[in-house]
This record gives sequence, C-alpha cells and structure tokens, in this order.
Amino acid sequence: MATSNTGQQDGPYAPTIRFRNGLFYLATSHFRRGTGEWPEVKIVIFTTPDPFDSTAWSDPIIVKDLPGLDPDIFWDDDGQPYISFATFGIMQAALDLTDGTAGPSTNIWNGTGGRNAEGPHIYKKDGFYYLLISEGGTETNHSVTIARSPKVSGPYESYSGNPILTNKFTDEYFQTVGHADLFQDGVGNWWGMALATRSGPAWEIYPMGRETVLFPVKWEQGEWPELQQVRGRMSGPLPPTTRDIPGSGPFVDDPDEVDFSSGIPDNFITWRAPKTSLFHASPRGHPQTLRAIPSRVNLTADDSFSPAEDGLAFIARKQTSTLFDYSVDISLMPTVKGEEAGVSVFLTQQQHIDLGIVNLPSGRKLIPHFRFRVEASGKSNITVPATTVVPVPRAWLYRPTRLYISTLNDSTYVFSASPARSPREKKVLGRANGEIVSGGSGPFTGVLIGVYATTNGGEWRNPVYFSRWVYSLVAQKVGEGDMAYLDADKYNRLPTG
Ligand SMILES: *[C@@H]1O[C@H](CO)[C@@H](O)[C@H](O)[C@H]1NC(C)=O
Ligand SMILES: *[C@@H]1O[C@H](CO)[C@@H](O)[C@H](O)[C@H]1NC(C)=O
Ligand SMILES: *[C@@H]1O[C@H](CO)[C@@H](O)[C@H](O)[C@H]1NC(C)=O
Ligand SMILES: *[C@@H]1O[C@H](CO)[C@@H](O)[C@H](O)[C@H]1NC(C)=O
Ligand SMILES: *[C@@H]1O[C@H](CO)[C@@H](O)[C@H](O)[C@H]1NC(C)=O
Repeated sequence: MATSNTGQQDGPYAPTIRFRNGLFYLATSHFRRGTGEWPEVKIVIFTTPDPFDSTAWSDPIIVKDLPGLDPDIFWDDDGQPYISFATFGIMQAALDLTDGTAGPSTNIWNGTGGRNAEGPHIYKKDGFYYLLISEGGTETNHSVTIARSPKVSGPYESYSGNPILTNKFTDEYFQTVGHADLFQDGVGNWWGMALATRSGPAWEIYPMGRETVLFPVKWEQGEWPELQQVRGRMSGPLPPTTRDIPGSGPFVDDPDEVDFSSGIPDNFITWRAPKTSLFHASPRGHPQTLRAIPSRVNLTADDSFSPAEDGLAFIARKQTSTLFDYSVDISLMPTVKGEEAGVSVFLTQQQHIDLGIVNLPSGRKLIPHFRFRVEASGKSNITVPATTVVPVPRAWLYRPTRLYISTLNDSTYVFSASPARSPREKKVLGRANGEIVSGGSGPFTGVLIGVYATTNGGEWRNPVYFSRWVYSLVAQKVGEGDMAYLDADKYNRLPTG
C-alpha cells in the first residue's frame, strides 16, 4: 500500500556533481509520491566550496517551474549554464544559477528508441557537444547511448555504435549497467561511472541494490568515446590507493567496530528523517552504549504512522559486501507485552528480515522470546520462512544478548544469538533468502543492516541499550564463481568473544 506515509522510495534521486570557479554544484531531483497520479518532483541545486565539510553546503536553489528527473548542469564556453533533465524525452533549458530561474525548455533528444530516456549529461570536446543518456529502463535492458551536435541546443546526431555501454543480453554478473557519467582525473585520464546490479542475468538476488561502478574510458581527439564494458575484474590507470584525503568518517569499504563512546558514526543511517531524540550515544550511567527509546511502530509500521512525530527507532549501516559478519549486544528489561528490540536486514518497511527479542506471554507470565520474522508484503509471489518464536533460555536472561547476522553464501542470511559473554553457546535461529530483500518495493537502494526497538503499538517505553557493534567484510562476489575474499588483517581486526 503506498500512501504518503508509507511510500518507500521518496527522496533525492540521481545527483550530479560539477565543479566550476571554486564551487561544487550538486543537482538532484527530489521525488515525493503523494496520493495523486503523478509524483511531485522538484529540481534542487546545492553548492559548496568544500565537499569534505558536510556543514558547508548551501541551502537549495530550487529550479522554478521545471519538474524533471536527473538534472545535469553544463556551462557553455560563454559561461551560460544549461540544465538538462528527463521528462518525456531529454529536455534542456538555460538556467540562472543565482535564483533558479530557467528559460523555456526544449526537447533535445529521445534516445535510440528504448523506453525511459533519462540521466542526461552534456560535455563539450573538440568542437562537439556530446549528450550521454540512459534508456531501456533501469532493469536488465538498461543501456547508455550517446549523440553529438556542433550546437548545444542540437539537433543531436546519434552515434552509430549505440548503445555505447550495456550489459543487456550478456551473462555478466554485473547487470543493469546504465545511468553513466564521464569525467577526467587529475592527470587527464577519462573515466566513467555508472550504476550496476550484482545479480547475473537472472536478476533475482541483489540485496545491495544498484551500486556505483567505475570503468576506464578512451576518448581520442574528434572521436566518440570508448567505454570499457563493466565486469567484476577490470584494469585501468588508477592512482595509488591513499587514505590521506580531507574529510571525516569512515571509507565506504571500512568495517565497523563501534562502542558509541564518541557518538554515532557518520555512516549510520536512519529510515526517513531522523528523530534524533530516540537515540543517545553513551548516556550518563551507560558508557559505551547506544540507548534507543523504542518507537510505537515496528519496522513495518501502520497506516497511522506519522514519520516525523513517531519516528522509527531503527539505525543501520549499508550492506557493502556480499559476505559479512555482523553482531551487536542488546540489553533490554521489558515489562509489558510486545516490547521488542533486535537486528534487521532491511530493504523497506515492506521487505525486512528480523531477529528480535520480544516480550510475550508464556502461560500467565510475560517472558522474552526470540522471534525470527520476515516481512515480504512489498514483493509479490515469494515464499518466505515461517515465523519462529522460542523462549530465551532461562540462563541467558537479565544479561546482554548478542545477536548475529551473517551470510552463508551470496544468497543466504543466517540469524543467530548467544549470551554476550559466551559466544560459544551461539544458536542459529533463522535463515532467509536474499531474494526477499531484492527488488519489489525497494528496487534501487539496497539493504541496511542494523538494530531496532519498538513497543509494537504499546505505550510504555523502557529504553534499550545496544553495544559492541561490529560489521566485518568477508568477501565480494565479482563474477559467477568468483568470490574475492578480503584481506583478513585489514578487515577482521575484531575482538572475538
Ligand atoms: C521526441 O518524441 C516526441 C514524441 O514522439 C516527438 O514529438 C519529438 O519531436 C521527439 N523529439 C526529438 C528531439 O526527436
Ligand atoms: C527488454 O527488451 C526486450 C526486447 O528487446 C523486451 O522483450 C523486454 O520486455 C524488455 N524487458 C524489460 C524489463 O524492459
Ligand atoms: C508466481 O510464481 C509461480 C511459481 O514460480 C509462477 O508460476 C507464477 O507465474 C507467478 N505469478 C506471478 C503473478 O508472478
Ligand atoms: C547457499 O546456502 C543455502 C543453505 O545451505 C543453500 O541452500 C544454497 O543452495 C546455497 N546457495 C548457493 C548459491 O550456494
Ligand atoms: C507491528 O505493529 C503493528 C501495530 O503498529 C501490529 O499490528 C503488528 O502486529 C506488529 N507486528 C508484529 C510482528 O508485532
């Protein structure tokens, strides 16, 4: 059900970043599915002199009267900025970046006949304006096509070798390659980036959703660019790896070893606007913990869910590797029925796999139970494992419990529990297929791994304390039968037990 409360894929889409005269420009469209037939779409532009300082961004410049997707900014030789975007076909308008006023928009290209011409970018090279777009839809027909013109406003002539980049109709593990952009590095090498899905042509299991890939490009004087096909193993003139760059927070492929003594890490994500009052790192009397005040709603929520008021007590990081090990310690002292805290593999409110500790009746008493439960209403026609509920062993009560999520292989999540102090007593409590959290109501963004706390509709809110949060990357699948195991020293420096 998609109401304004429960739309699962609203927000900023397809950002483009550009640099000119000391300023970085980030253009994106903000997308909100209301109750009407058409979503509300607004193009917004942010600027910053320092992309490494997250507080340095400007307020948005809202592009007036120009609803469209995938905005691109291009400056012509005379300094005039143009915005290109997608509606029905690729549109272009002159833009005043000081106040977001756009001139009349014209339809400059429709692509080569695939559906959904979108994701335009314009570059000028050797006297030609090049227009790179995507078409075919974001599924397995996704493709990149290109056209050029001696004038910015066209007419654009399509390249005879189109599509210039696609993995459609191939058996590559990387599929849905599209929505590309091109850029030159500091020493003049051309590169491309695109979205891709690690799924193989079956396109059934891809819990990490669409990911960003980088590929080398050759672009000779006066010629069309040559884009290298996207595969799991490629080579190109990459600069040496360095971690010595400005900015704060972890790198995308770093593990987590978090004790919450210095706040909530920058890579942690909430679902919907954060209700910060629900979380507190290391509150007085509880060092090295994350305190969560349970939300009324659980991860699925309900029709009366008001995101800004209720909040969702869920905090997570992205799954960034095919194989990983995640564990976290949980302390809760439930007193009323339905109080629950646990871990989740979460795609959307309608697709998530949870292992919780929930206070449920047993005879005439309430006792904590492990509940392994799958929500899959966002994905039709899928078989899911049954809910299992077992009492927490008596000897484990009143002390922290460690909950674990790991991957058995590229398609199976395993959920387990142990006393925090005795990992050797670990018990497996559930297994689920990654297909449950691939596509459906969340086709784009990929899975979050994290913790939640809820009263399941009840009023009484005993705080829950999470501690010793560990996510370690084990391996990346880069091709069929090709699993790249990650450096154990680099990635698994973790305290065991
Ligand atoms: C794009 O398609 C529309 C609808 O068929 C057509 O009216 C328009 O002329 C086309 N635009 C270009 C640039 O070919
Ligand atoms: C992909 O394109 C083929 C034809 O080339 C078409 O039959 C198929 O329906 C398309 N699939 C999607 C998901 O658009
Ligand atoms: C549901 O799955 C079954 C078995 O795989 C298949 O035969 C059927 O066509 C599917 N239905 C829909 C609506 O996808
Ligand atoms: C992954 O593990 C599950 C459970 O053992 C097994 O059923 C499945 O076939 C495995 N899948 C692959 C691709 O190895
Ligand atoms: C989630 O909460 C709703 C009420 O908000 C409730 O109806 C539903 O049963 C809850 N789900 C579980 C698994 O407790």
